[in-house]
Amino acid sequence: MGKGLIETNTPLPEARQGEVVESQSNEGFRRLYIESYGCQMNFSDSEVVASILSSEGYSTTRDIEEADLVLLNTCSIRDKAEQTVRNRLKHFNNLKTANPSMTIGILGCMAERLKDKLLDEEKLVDLVVGPDAYRDLPNLLKEIDGGRKAVNVILSKEETYGDLQPVRLGGNGVTAFISITRGCDNMCSFCVVPFTRGRERSRNPDTIIQEALDLDKAGYKEITLLGQNVDSYLWYGGGAKKDFEKASESAKATSVDFAQLLDKVATAVPGMRIRFSTSNPQDMADVVLHAIARHSNICNYIHLPVQSGSSKVLKEMNRGHNREEYIDLINRIRTIIPDCAISMDMISGFPNETDEDHQETLSLMELVKYHYGFMFYYSERPNTYAARNFEDNVPLATKKARLDDIISLQRKHSFFWNEAELGQIREVLIEGSSKKSDDHWYGRTPQNTVVVFPKTDEKPGDFVHVLIESCTTATLLGKRI
Ligand code: SAH
Ligand code: F3S
Repeated sequence: MGKGLIETNTPLPEARQGEVVESQSNEGFRRLYIESYGCQMNFSDSEVVASILSSEGYSTTRDIEEADLVLLNTCSIRDKAEQTVRNRLKHFNNLKTANPSMTIGILGCMAERLKDKLLDEEKLVDLVVGPDAYRDLPNLLKEIDGGRKAVNVILSKEETYGDLQPVRLGGNGVTAFISITRGCDNMCSFCVVPFTRGRERSRNPDTIIQEALDLDKAGYKEITLLGQNVDSYLWYGGGAKKDFEKASESAKATSVDFAQLLDKVATAVPGMRIRFSTSNPQDMADVVLHAIARHSNICNYIHLPVQSGSSKVLKEMNRGHNREEYIDLINRIRTIIPDCAISMDMISGFPNETDEDHQETLSLMELVKYHYGFMFYYSERPNTYAARNFEDNVPLATKKARLDDIISLQRKHSFFWNEAELGQIREVLIEGSSKKSDDHWYGRTPQNTVVVFPKTDEKPGDFVHVLIESCTTATLLGKRI
């Protein structure tokens, strides 16, 4: 599994650390090596960056040693994510000694959070670029050619990179991300994202559909619509979500929300599977659930972070919903989409979390029985509301012990769901060879569970039916029928 958000055994696509497809390189062209950390949005952004730089004559390489430009697309979500990048930078000393003209740049959330401080702290770094400033990369690189260091961390209310055609990096040719919103307005008290990725804005649906059609034509079989808060998607001609009220009546009348977008995409590419991530409980409307139920190509799987089972903690997290409202939403999902898999994000050890609060988290998990989970212990992030107003007062050992409880309970539930699959026949989209055995395929069910089965005459991108015969906590094993 990649570093960053995915810290448990989960069936999400493998993170693709530093993988880049080698494209045709012409004499005199420069070579770009890009490594991505953290959330899926960063992987998607790296594809936008590769697109911007390909117009400048950069071809991508998998070999860092031959690169002229090395970019790290970074994550700030927890302290550990930042430390990972800092440790990685230490390895670049030798690279730069061997090739003094190599440019090293930091993109993404660390760039935005630390700004030009990064240049002081990490002497090897030449370039610091925040998530909304990638179009400025060609200019910034010219400054560096002129012998200077360069920084652009300006956030935007409009930028969605909607008109750009991402260069697909290191993927499997079967599944791809399409970014639909940028930024987040939710201001969860623990979260650095609203500061590093700015205000929420949505991308023109026409460009989203065009990207889906292009992927379909190129043979891709699954797309994941990406945003920090996809349910909050709202296109009204451009601009920040929070400015919607100020829009003209005609812009409002022709606006497109997330349920409508799902309808449009599902109809445009009926042969593709459609997924989306991430949903936030307070923004998930029933019309979205009905759209999922209505379209057989929208996967019955919802990633619905909750963070805690205690209403008291949820309030201090500024989550915009309490335990009862969340349970109510789970019940509506189960009624409207009966075989929907649900996964969560959970945080242990938020400030002032008591053992009773922790027990409420465990009891919520028992009640919902999630298929999967992404579980973390609280990491205080500078300048967030929580950092400014609450003491980080749960001892690390307690945070970790509670996290262990959460992870073991989740393992039990994942196994419960996997055992229930035994004897079932599932549609599996083949993504590639199993990591553990070249004689087996690796794919996923619509519910996002990983299935491994022996190869016969199939190929990646095929939809096949597999009889599930055995399982582990994270994987179903079977044979094609
Ligand atoms: N809406 C976003 C959430 C990004 S952060 C999305 O698209 O996924 C992903 C997860 O990291 C959060 O749901 C939360 O569980 C966890 N997280 C965020 N800030 C954290 C912090 N300060 N400490 C520990 N975990 C955190
Ligand atoms: Fe962070 Fe909450 Fe937005 S977790 S990304 S502020 S929904």
